[in-house]
Amino acid sequence: MKAIVQTTYGDADVLRLADVPRPTIKPNQVLVRVHAAGVDRGAWHAMTGLPLVARLGFGLRSPRNPTPGLDLAGTVTEVGERVTDFKVGDEVFGEGSRSWAEYATAKPHRLLHKPEHLTFPQAAVIPTSGATALRMLAPSTAPTRDVLIIGAGGGVGSFAVLLAKSRGDRVTAVCSTAKLEAVRRFGADHVIDYTREPLTGSYDLIIDIAGNRPLPALRALLRPQGTLCLTGGENGGRFFGGLERNLQAKTVSPFIKHTLRAPIVIANRTDLAALTSISSPLERTYPLEEARTAMDRLATGRVTGKLALTM
Ligand SMILES: NC(=O)c1ccc[n+]([C@@H]2O[C@H](COP(=O)([O-])OP(=O)(O)OC[C@H]3O[C@@H](n4cnc5c(N)ncnc54)[C@H](OP(=O)(O)O)[C@@H]3O)[C@@H](O)[C@H]2O)c1
Repeated sequence: MKAIVQTTYGDADVLRLADVPRPTIKPNQVLVRVHAAGVDRGAWHAMTGLPLVARLGFGLRSPRNPTPGLDLAGTVTEVGERVTDFKVGDEVFGEGSRSWAEYATAKPHRLLHKPEHLTFPQAAVIPTSGATALRMLAPSTAPTRDVLIIGAGGGVGSFAVLLAKSRGDRVTAVCSTAKLEAVRRFGADHVIDYTREPLTGSYDLIIDIAGNRPLPALRALLRPQGTLCLTGGENGGRFFGGLERNLQAKTVSPFIKHTLRAPIVIANRTDLAALTSISSPLERTYPLEEARTAMDRLATGRVTGKLALTM
């Protein structure tokens, strides 16, 4: 089968299209004929091996996993003997393994039947970014919150805006000039162009996905019982990336009135089900053989919403 492979870390030039053996399934897995796969920052981290600390998981000298990709949407073609909830021919989406390929394995509890109203590419971009946004917004019983979303034009941020609006929050979205219109279309009530104006206001929840603003600066925008939720932080340094700030947040949280969170999310079936009622922020698709172009585009930071690869 055709798959994208990489044998070293680097920029998108390390990716190439190759013929590799079709994967075999374990008794608790299904094989999916992949029609579309999501492109996300996780694949960028795996491709570049950055931040360096992530190589403890990815492989110290070279990638342990030669084919990138988690998110997928496709058709089940084989079912392990212990799998009861899917059958051959089912259309599914969710998180699998090595999904930038014509076939990929997946565990049933990370899959959901694909709703008819979503195309394969629209469904394929949901799992990782959507579930991360979902968990960053939850839990809360408050009826309407004032929410600030920093990085609102990106993969996780676009889902965060869509989800927050669907639960009735008032959303202020932060992004660069080129993404203002799209972020308004996702439903944001107010937008702040961080290249032209400072962040202002007072919020119950701040979701910081992308920048590396210091914790005190973000907490100054929080109401007394407010919550700050962090992920990512691309400009946080080559060794730790944004992890340093996330660890700092988790360490100080028990000792202060504000709640500081930094969840690490793997999408499950409950997350996927909750994400099918909002629209999919798919920006555009690329054929599998143009994975390099897709990753180059993601790396520039210019993608609004999400990209998918199609097979
Ligand atoms: N914890 C987890 O399980 C998990 C899961 C998914 C993703 N993540 C992490 O979350 C991060 C973001 O992922 P993503 O998929 O959303 O990436 P993405 O699609 O590249 O989006 C990042 C966004 O950040 C914006 N940005 C960059 N610098 C900014 C700044 N100083 N202030 C405000 N916005 C800024 C960029 O757009 P503009 O600057 O043009 O507005 C871009 O839209 C990554 O580090 C990723 O690894 C973590």
